[in-house]
Amino acid sequence: MLQNTKTSFGLISRSLHWLMALLLTGLFAMGLYMTSLDYYDPLYHSLPWWHKSLGLLVFLFLLLRVIWRLSNPQPESLKTHKQWEKRLAHLIQKLFYGFIFFIALSGYFISTAKGKGIEFFNLFELSSIIALKEGTADLLGNAHEIMAILLATLVVLHALAALKHHFIDKDKTLIRMIK
Ligand code: HEM
Repeated sequence: MLQNTKTSFGLISRSLHWLMALLLTGLFAMGLYMTSLDYYDPLYHSLPWWHKSLGLLVFLFLLLRVIWRLSNPQPESLKTHKQWEKRLAHLIQKLFYGFIFFIALSGYFISTAKGKGIEFFNLFELSSIIALKEGTADLLGNAHEIMAILLATLVVLHALAALKHHFIDKDKTLIRMIK
């Protein structure tokens, strides 16, 4: 089924969840690797191009996901989930949305700081709306990196929680996000 029900995640929610998980992991690895390259490395120019296009794709998926989440029933937590687990899981999920939004937005402002737009896979260019002073762009760049590290930490906690449900509690938490 495409849509969520009160007890299950539909195909659209599951696909968006795993696609974004894959994209965000790739973007994080790419972001770390990019900063270690020197100017003469062949990837010095191409990797940032991919990072920006994929980053924009994540932003589009984020919008889709929020719209989908608001227009679909949210599956209820399993009866076996403890109250503190539910609270923590919901807090982390909200933080995910906030962090991804901020990381994408700061990425846009850093990339367009000098007045040049961002290319989206040779399909179109998103223009710059504001040129930034170098100091402001550097500050945003640091915030972008710190937020990405915090997001990665939350992802690890979130994944460990899912694995704990699967292997220790032996409940359906992970399975219902897969099938
Ligand atoms: C960048 C990586 C990830 C992000 C941003 C993310 C985000 C989210 C969000 C926002 C939800 C809430 C449901 C929704 O809105 O559709 C969710 C649910 C879930 N995620 Fe992830 N996730 C990520 C990676 C993972 C990984 C690696 C695993 C497993 C190892 C996982 C397992 C789950 C499970 C089992 C649920 C359902 C929880 C429930 O039933 O309430 N996620 N995830």
